[in-house]
Amino acid sequence: MTGSKIGLHAIENASKDELIALQLKRLKKTLNHVYTHSPVYKRKFDEAGVHPDDLVDLSDLSKFPFTTKADLRDNYPFGMFSLPNEDIVRLHASSGTTGKPTVVGYSQKDIDTWADIVARSIYAAGGRPKDIVHISYGYGLFTGGMGAHYGAERLGCTVVPMSGGQTAKQVQLIQDFNPDIIMVTPSYMLNIADELVRQKVDMSKLNLRTGIFGAEPWTEAMRHQMESSLGIDAVDIYGLSEVMGPGVAQECIETKDGLTIWEDHFYPEIIDPVTGEVLEDGEEGELVFTSLTKEAMPVIRYRTRDLTRLLPGTSRVMRRMDKINGRSDDMMIIRGVNVFPSQIEELICKVDGLAPHYQIELTKQGNLDSVTIYVESTKAISHEVQRGLEKTLLTQIKTYVGISSSVVITPPHSIDRSEGKAQRVLDNRNK
Ligand code: DLL
Repeated sequence: MTGSKIGLHAIENASKDELIALQLKRLKKTLNHVYTHSPVYKRKFDEAGVHPDDLVDLSDLSKFPFTTKADLRDNYPFGMFSLPNEDIVRLHASSGTTGKPTVVGYSQKDIDTWADIVARSIYAAGGRPKDIVHISYGYGLFTGGMGAHYGAERLGCTVVPMSGGQTAKQVQLIQDFNPDIIMVTPSYMLNIADELVRQKVDMSKLNLRTGIFGAEPWTEAMRHQMESSLGIDAVDIYGLSEVMGPGVAQECIETKDGLTIWEDHFYPEIIDPVTGEVLEDGEEGELVFTSLTKEAMPVIRYRTRDLTRLLPGTSRVMRRMDKINGRSDDMMIIRGVNVFPSQIEELICKVDGLAPHYQIELTKQGNLDSVTIYVESTKAISHEVQRGLEKTLLTQIKTYVGISSSVVITPPHSIDRSEGKAQRVLDNRNK
């Protein structure tokens, strides 16, 4: 989409055959581009004994090797680029928790494509050119702020480039500028929501109608909680810096049934995370992306570590992905049971009297992993009520997740607030 042409882009309504033909054409071009211009990909393809000409149809992609975060780290900072450095107009980087950051480069054309795709995402979320968009994703090396910013401008919206932090000021500007849309991580939205209450803002007087939330997992239960407490529509936006940034996939407001992957730009596969085998649509596994239009740093079969499944398109021709349950790296194994923070979040959101502010601490008791869940009550409560809430959540977790845990209900505002991506799990097992 461009600023002058508002509405669905033709490809969003195309036939499946047209989409596949476009994907195939773009995939061949990308494979040739990286093979010719990236020494890393030339070596990887040669070592795997594959050549771009081996791709005749889309399923042949499975013959090509995966790209992982380790490839980006090993070739730090610019070794993965497929264009000369003078053609790179922007760098972003994702910090990660360990080791060197992963660096991503964009050409001017990549920046334009990205703005188009984010504009398309905001449109799918119900955004229109007249809207005011308040952006609380961080600006900087993180792709969230600038990615959202360029997309909202491209759609023709008025952008408030607030970035993360300064929560009291966020609320002041939300009152003064009266945005229609907010783009922010769901955990920071909770933090802003607390401040709205603290400043006694009357939500019914605000224009805010949609939150475009992403950059971290959040559950259906959290959606209901935010929609009812804030009186807005909450939709999901997904992306990762290695592939582009925000806007790889977006939930459409009319269906709210998972995220439409912009498959004309990013080709998705789901693989078995252990064997690497490609799984059928509908099966749960690790999401893998191949760039179809990027030129500065296309990635071939990039392993995201995000777990989900592919579903048929509903409001667009492109396939959808389920909400991300978690990353394979976030999975906790508690006494042999696989647990994701999102499972705990679902249950917390369903207990009356508990706020959606929580942290999960892992410790060792002897040789066994032990888990304690800290969660806030919505208001000051007596010891008796506290014990009752602890017991309720503990029983729910035992029943639905199948693990024994400790639950500690803490007073309102006692758990660290996020200004970006929340840290839900504290792993103190080695302390
Ligand atoms: O988080 C890009 C982004 C910014 C997406 C703003 C959406 C909104 P990274 O910092 O590279 O990029 O982190 C990417 O975040 O692999 C997922 O694990 C997680 N993630 C991103 N969006 C979602 C989402 C940005 N909607 C990593 N649901 C990804 C669940 C998400 N997890």
